Amino acid sequence: PAAVIVGIDGPSGTGKSSTSKAVAAKLGLRYLDTGAQYRAITWWMLSNGIDVDDAAAVAAAAGKPEIVSGTDPSAPTITVDGADAAGPIRTQEVTSAVSAVSAVPEIRTRLTELQRSIAAAAPHGIVVEGRDIGTTVLPDADLKIFLTASAEARAARRNGELKGKNAADLAATQAALVKRDAADSGRKTSPLAKAADAVEVDTTELTLEQVIECVVTLVEEKR
Ligand code: C5P
Repeated sequence: PAAVIVGIDGPSGTGKSSTSKAVAAKLGLRYLDTGAQYRAITWWMLSNGIDVDDAAAVAAAAGKPEIVSGTDPSAPTITVDGADAAGPIRTQEVTSAVSAVSAVPEIRTRLTELQRSIAAAAPHGIVVEGRDIGTTVLPDADLKIFLTASAEARAARRNGELKGKNAADLAATQAALVKRDAADSGRKTSPLAKAADAVEVDTTELTLEQVIECVVTLVEEKR
């Protein structure tokens, strides 16, 4: 079959990453985590002493770091100037700073170009997850999914992921998620939004396996 392009968007904690990786693995597609790229560029800014709230400084440095994403869904990788960034991009420091960096248009232009070139090079197709894939990065995707879940369910899942890593309490996790989503939805350049032709899947009452099954079925219908 021809290469199939799938975009999966939605707020934090809706199961985008777990779903996207599993769907790609099941269908023999590549996988791209665009959030990891925004986190990677944010990590570089912080490491290089750039004030992430200074949009002009962030814009001026937007082209400097080399970001490379490995797209095997069973072992995705991310490097910045050749250094493994998988661990550092998940720190609280990066999570708190990423919305400010990702709101800068020069950052978005740069990563959107990179994401399009990675998608175009995927031999059998790709599952790309993010916030603006259906609306901006891949408007001609074969299938667009918009995952949602209640704020309570999203915070509970995120806390589960953090278990054993000194997890913040549920209320604090929920407040941080809601704040980041509000920033991502409210920015001027390609905000978090459901594309008009996206299929919305509310995952609040679904298991991960059910969400994966649902998306696999939708992809197979497009092939
Ligand atoms: O998906 P993840 O939570 O790792 O994304 C981290 C951040 O990267 C988001 O909160 C958002 O600010 C930014 N992002 C974005 N556009 C994308 C993917 C992520 O602005 N396509």
